[in-house]
Amino acid sequence: MSANTHRVIIDTDPGVDDALAILLALRSPELEVIGITTVCGNVRVEQATKNLFRVLELVPFPSGLFIGQGAVQPLRQPLEPATHVHGADGLGELDRIRNPDGTRRYVDAGTPRSLPNALTAWRECLRRSPGEVTLITLGPLTNLAHALEAEPALVRAFRSVICMGGALGVPGNVTPAAEYNFYVDPHAADRVLRSGLPLTLVPLDVTTRVSLSREAIAKLTAHATDPVCRFLGDATGPAVAFAQRTEGRGAFYLHDPLAVGVAIDPSLVKRVSLRVAVETEDRAARGRTSMDRASPPTVQAAMDVDAARFLTLFQTRLCRR
Ligand code: BDR
Ligand code: CA
Repeated sequence: MSANTHRVIIDTDPGVDDALAILLALRSPELEVIGITTVCGNVRVEQATKNLFRVLELVPFPSGLFIGQGAVQPLRQPLEPATHVHGADGLGELDRIRNPDGTRRYVDAGTPRSLPNALTAWRECLRRSPGEVTLITLGPLTNLAHALEAEPALVRAFRSVICMGGALGVPGNVTPAAEYNFYVDPHAADRVLRSGLPLTLVPLDVTTRVSLSREAIAKLTAHATDPVCRFLGDATGPAVAFAQRTEGRGAFYLHDPLAVGVAIDPSLVKRVSLRVAVETEDRAARGRTSMDRASPPTVQAAMDVDAARFLTLFQTRLCRR
């Protein structure tokens, strides 16, 4: 590891934007991805793990990478997956994609019969690099909430946590009040935000400012031979169509890739120290984040982003010419 390389574990519910975030991390020399763990969210956790292995077929990854499977359900409520956004398989319905000769472009990668649980994978990573590892969470915070309960000392060994979630000064994307990751497991989000961990929040306030239009994706991926770039074009179709139906604009939001972008280059965003609370009780407002600038801060929230610089970084790393 060079002096400028930063060790990370990614906790994720792939998810198309999760997949692109993982690919961005694995193609970024600033990061050494030492662990990836899955959590229920966009899809059931078994499917999330299956999707992770599909994504790992596309790129070389470190031979010692620890992979673990985490929570099967949110802390206190049934899972509400987001397959209406990410497609039935969570990866944009890849089975429908054919090569010019009619063969399937994406074959099932298969998953190992048994995997360590997420906490075991984190423990192993942190045992080797205590105080050096950043945890990047791209899904509901269920695994981290469980870890805080079961092994608080272990979690304190993270150097920092970067978390995609919340909607502070903008509307939610599941309900008018809430962003998806916090909506799915508000009790976990509440537990994490009250934990005192060194937390950077990457909310919708910044992630909705980094999107690729349908036309931009078509241009970027036309004639692509790079499998990662081809995947970007193949997997984003259903989510772009969903945005077209619901917002009248066909575009793909790079929510989770921006959280990885913040790990690669923290100067991409401007952070504000804030106390952030999560609504857990009121049904209509479940998962809503509210900020309080007057009380002692609990997080560093990314509230502004250099969108053009991030988009250039994302595109050049995922679509190599
Ligand atoms: C978040 O919700 C999920 O559907 C995405 O993968 C992302 O993590 C955005 O609200
Ligand atoms: Ca996600």
